[in-house]
Amino acid sequence: MIIAGDQLQGLQIAARAIREGQLIGLPTETVYGLAADAENPQAVEKIFQLKGRPKDHPLIIHVLDHVAASHFATDIAEFAQALMRAFWPGPLTVILRRREGIAAAAAGAQATVGLRCPSHPVAQALLARLQQPEPGLRAVMGLAAPSANLFGRVSPTTAAHVVDDLGGDLLVLDGGGCAVGIESTIVDCSRAQPVLLRPGVITLAQLEVVCGMPVVLGSDASDALGATPKASGTLASHYAPLAKVRLLDRAAIDKALQARGPNDVSPRVALWCRGTTPTSGPGVRVQPMPESAEDVARVLFATLRSFDAQGVQEIWIEAVPSGDDWAGVRDRLSRAAH
Ligand code: TXA
Ligand code: MG
Repeated sequence: MIIAGDQLQGLQIAARAIREGQLIGLPTETVYGLAADAENPQAVEKIFQLKGRPKDHPLIIHVLDHVAASHFATDIAEFAQALMRAFWPGPLTVILRRREGIAAAAAGAQATVGLRCPSHPVAQALLARLQQPEPGLRAVMGLAAPSANLFGRVSPTTAAHVVDDLGGDLLVLDGGGCAVGIESTIVDCSRAQPVLLRPGVITLAQLEVVCGMPVVLGSDASDALGATPKASGTLASHYAPLAKVRLLDRAAIDKALQARGPNDVSPRVALWCRGTTPTSGPGVRVQPMPESAEDVARVLFATLRSFDAQGVQEIWIEAVPSGDDWAGVRDRLSRAAH
């Protein structure tokens, strides 16, 4: 059931559901999350069941502020504090040393915990409600929430996407379309040096300026710093639509269209391309891609979902620029194409 997230009644219903150990669909500025009380192991277990997610894949815990963060984490390095000051509330997750005995189930029993303070007004309002100390209730509450999609599928950026994936029985707070559109940037801050585990819309250059030191790329971290922790977003096959995705440069697109011939209708193709629209035949739906990385990120998952809904068999996507600001989009596209 979808309920308005910007009204008091919706927030009250959602807060009660969380306190009772139920799951809710939660809008954030990145993607919708499937949220539960991070310190209720039975509620956290329901997340893993509903998503079909392996239990050793840790969840991100969403917190209201720095105070709530230090309820879950300890030994927070100076560079981690700088990141939280610079990018919270916003699309940044920091991996920190977990406080012993806290939120073990949500953290997949790892010694670290992923924390994020979302900027979406509905997420903020719900978290604020949950902190209000009432007699007999905890003063600090965090929301464990992975993206609200089935494991391995494209993340949801509208309330309707969540219902499509997880069913109409789930209570979903409607917060409109997600402004960022791809999942948060994840930085492991539990070691001597920051490690970028998952690129998002915050660039490597921005991270390094704030940290005041080099940020190691996750792919290089096993060499530089020993084994990398598990991150499900780093599985190669993550974020896949149903149709087969091919990433092509413009020359390859032109060649593939020519090879098809003007009257071929099979396979049915959706072509998401940049710049001028190429000439295509009847079985190809062409959709222009926005120009900026920010705008592509915002519509990326919704676009892949709409192509699937149109029943195309192949999605051809024009390769995006190689700049640092495109890293998050490139990462999601290459996983979708895997
Ligand atoms: O933008 C986002 O981050 C969204 C919204 C809902 O906040 N959430 C999200 O969650 O993308 P999920 O579960 O789909 O991805 C969380 C990622 C996973 O790759 C997980 O392995 C990693 O965060 N992660 C969480 N805790 C971790 C930890 N302690 N160590 C290493 N990776 C961790
Ligand atoms: Mg996910």
